[in-house]
Amino acid sequence: MFITLEGIDGSGKSTQAKLLAEALGEDTLLLREPGGTEAAERIREILADPAIELDPRAELLLFCAARADLVIRQIEPALAAGRSVVCDRFTDSTVAYQGVARGLGVDLVERLNEATTGGLKPDLTLLLRIDPEIAAQRLSGEADRFEDEGLEFQRTVAGAYDEIAAAEPERVLALDGTQEVAALHAAILDLIRQSSSPGLGNAPIPG
Ligand code: TYD
Repeated sequence: MFITLEGIDGSGKSTQAKLLAEALGEDTLLLREPGGTEAAERIREILADPAIELDPRAELLLFCAARADLVIRQIEPALAAGRSVVCDRFTDSTVAYQGVARGLGVDLVERLNEATTGGLKPDLTLLLRIDPEIAAQRLSGEADRFEDEGLEFQRTVAGAYDEIAAAEPERVLALDGTQEVAALHAAILDLIRQSSSPGLGNAPIPG
């Protein structure tokens, strides 16, 4: 079972990804993008540094490069070994941020995503929806390249995510990200139990 979490910055995905991975059992692999391999963590450092100027196309290709390495070295071997994988962001992030918010085009990003992942798709994607203003209040500390972009950018990303969810309702399930942490975690477990996703058929769901 391959589950991804998506949402704008400050939507609480990282907390929920961690709780979900713990709930699915210790054999579950928890990953975050960009990152998860030595090369991808180095690429993350470049992407996270707002002081490094990057052309949007270079930014797009760096996210894809990091993901290609992660898919080959971590995700596919884990799935092949029968493990569950929970990934904090995946291809939908690139569609929403680079394809739509950066304006590079959804078609281009979808083609690159396909080439990058070899067609691997999550069995289930949890979209944590939250008002960008509330999300911004949650973020503290130094802003990264994207948190720096401001509210309008996050609104565009949020709109792009809603379109993805509307286009693929079987894979992408939207949840209210403003809920309290424990309530949202419970809602996520409920959704996974109810999900008719074929890849979830024999997954070890707790409770
Ligand atoms: P993330 O680690 O989720 O941020 P944080 O932990 O600070 O909440 O993601 C880092 C940033 O990278 C985030 O602003 C979204 C962006 N991003 C893209 O623009 N495209 C992508 O393909 C991915 C994976 C992330």
